[in-house]
Amino acid sequence: MPAPVDATIQAGRMAALLPSLPLETRCPPLPLRRYNGFWLPEAVLTELPAIHARLRPRPSDIFLASFPKSGTTWLKALAFATVHRARHPPSGADHPLRRMNPHECVRFMEMDPELRRDASSLLEEFEELDSPRVLGTHLPYCLLPDSIAGEAAGSRIMYVCRNPKDAFVSGLFFVKKVSSAYGAGAGAGAQSLSLEEAFELFCEGRLFAGPQWKHVLQYWEASMRRPKQVLFLEYERMLRDPKATVKKLAEFMGCGFSKEEEEGGVVDEIVKLCSLKELKNMEVNKSGGNQAGVRNEAYFRKGSSGDWRNHLTPEMAARLDKIVEDALQGSGFAFVDDAIM
Ligand code: A3P
Repeated sequence: MPAPVDATIQAGRMAALLPSLPLETRCPPLPLRRYNGFWLPEAVLTELPAIHARLRPRPSDIFLASFPKSGTTWLKALAFATVHRARHPPSGADHPLRRMNPHECVRFMEMDPELRRDASSLLEEFEELDSPRVLGTHLPYCLLPDSIAGEAAGSRIMYVCRNPKDAFVSGLFFVKKVSSAYGAGAGAGAQSLSLEEAFELFCEGRLFAGPQWKHVLQYWEASMRRPKQVLFLEYERMLRDPKATVKKLAEFMGCGFSKEEEEGGVVDEIVKLCSLKELKNMEVNKSGGNQAGVRNEAYFRKGSSGDWRNHLTPEMAARLDKIVEDALQGSGFAFVDDAIM
């Protein structure tokens, strides 16, 4: 196996570069720096060189990518349940999703949710996983290693996007809920962040992995360029037809359902197992949490489309719509703006 020769050099370069990058501290709980046009936690940027040098993608790998609060948890549950259905039948009483939060079943490759572990130790764990591995990421497409995003890369990426207004509202609720896990200073910052202040930061793209629309657009373009490697999903369309979504995921991952499975109700069982209602009511998601104190229940709220109407003024909505419309102009992509409550 080739040694990761340039990991140290690149890490050194990143360490030297980091303090000179634009800094954003108003977006709790983590300080962000702008790198390649995206705002990311310093802790993630610090680990980026190690990920690029040491992650060894396998052709069978499936990467689940998203901007935060866009349906990541749901996609993780659906992909995991689908790809491992032979080993773990979805109707089984001991299915891993009945014992573990979807984020434990499918880990983020660049971090633990609490960013308290370095990438190197995570990468070692990933090497131990059986194929096909399913891993999550919030990294923008342009910061993925070439071994995943390069034209010759063999692994597959499934990306889920969500209407920016709903992603914003969902994110604000989440940050307030988990803030205490990040220590007194950052936690207090999140608690006191007003809707208006948070909205301003969102519109400026100054939050974890922002600007949201740019994150989405890069994956959309990649899915147009490399349709066999990148599947682009929309949370709103998933809500409209979860069964069709599961079938689409399975086909893309190379494990389409047989006629017998379909007739036997396997697709319906996966949809049910991964539904918000079912996951939210599981004991592990009601009472469990991670080591940093983030409660699993924080990942499950309304699961609707169009909830922004309950929180944003028409003026706020129009302002964000205009920013997004301008940014997407000429791309051929537009966000779904459903109201499915
Ligand atoms: P809301 O806050 O609007 O309810 P992420 O998983 O990327 O963090 O996104 C979180 C959003 O997905 C939350 O949206 C959450 O309720 C919703 N969600 C979580 N699990 C879901 C599921 N099984 N089905 C549908 N939506 C789900």
